[in-house]
Amino acid sequence: MGVNVADMLDGNECREFVTLTELLHSSPIGVFDSGYGGLTILREIRKRLPQYDYLYLGDNARAPYGVRSFDVVYRFTLEAVRYLFNQGCRLVILACNTASAKALRSIQQNDLPGIDPSRRVLGVIRPTVEKVGGITRNGNIGIFGTPGTIQSRSYEIEIEKMYGGRCHTYGQACPMWVPLVENEEATGDGADFFVKKYITQLLAQCREIDSVILGCTHYPLLIDKIRHYMPQGIEIIEQGGIVAESLADYLHRHPEMECRCSRGGTVKYLTTENAGRFGDMASLFLQEQVSAAHIDIS
Ligand code: DGL
Repeated sequence: MGVNVADMLDGNECREFVTLTELLHSSPIGVFDSGYGGLTILREIRKRLPQYDYLYLGDNARAPYGVRSFDVVYRFTLEAVRYLFNQGCRLVILACNTASAKALRSIQQNDLPGIDPSRRVLGVIRPTVEKVGGITRNGNIGIFGTPGTIQSRSYEIEIEKMYGGRCHTYGQACPMWVPLVENEEATGDGADFFVKKYITQLLAQCREIDSVILGCTHYPLLIDKIRHYMPQGIEIIEQGGIVAESLADYLHRHPEMECRCSRGGTVKYLTTENAGRFGDMASLFLQEQVSAAHIDIS
């Protein structure tokens, strides 16, 4: 069936922004994570914005990122962003906290202007920080994250910038939580020990904490145990819904980008590791069967 391009543009409110060539090429929203964790973000984004096409990329071959240096996380993340751009994505979400903490700012400020200033890369830390101010009652905020995210102090810096002295942050690295999830032990008895351990260590820093950010995309898979061991009255903040809402708001405020995101309602999964294994693990995160394709990005 032929497509009449003139019809596609006629009366189309995108007309002032989008060229004919752009309309004819699919431009999915790219969602990047070091591995599987970003699927918890993608799941919520698709619930909120099912109309768009998505291209998910998990760099499973080089995960975990959480223990890697700034330089390495930045290099890996930039390679992934370039790959997604080459696949037609004009907007890429870094669904990984570690990548958002260690690579986002450099990519936005130093790389994007040279690659294509009209493309965008967004992260997960700022939307979460924007939300937390309305959740905390006494300003004492705990952050669970990978060692890399906590060492970067990215949450602390953003919260300080946004709320000044009104909020105090307490970071707690949870190096065992990602391996527990990756090894399908999130609901096993062994997970209890490490969930209890990091909650205890966090609360030892400050007894008054009233809100805790799950600052890693894997942690929602431990949510039942985290809820179980977290004292009553402490708000546990998951990022999926927050990031989805923030993306919806971004697209609403940026019609020039919204018009370039293709609307087929499709999702494709790419992994730098074994495609079969990705499909099996992804079904854990998404509660649906998915099939993936293997790619090389380095
Ligand atoms: N997805 C990463 C994050 O949100 C954690 C996994 C990893 O260490 O690679 O921080």
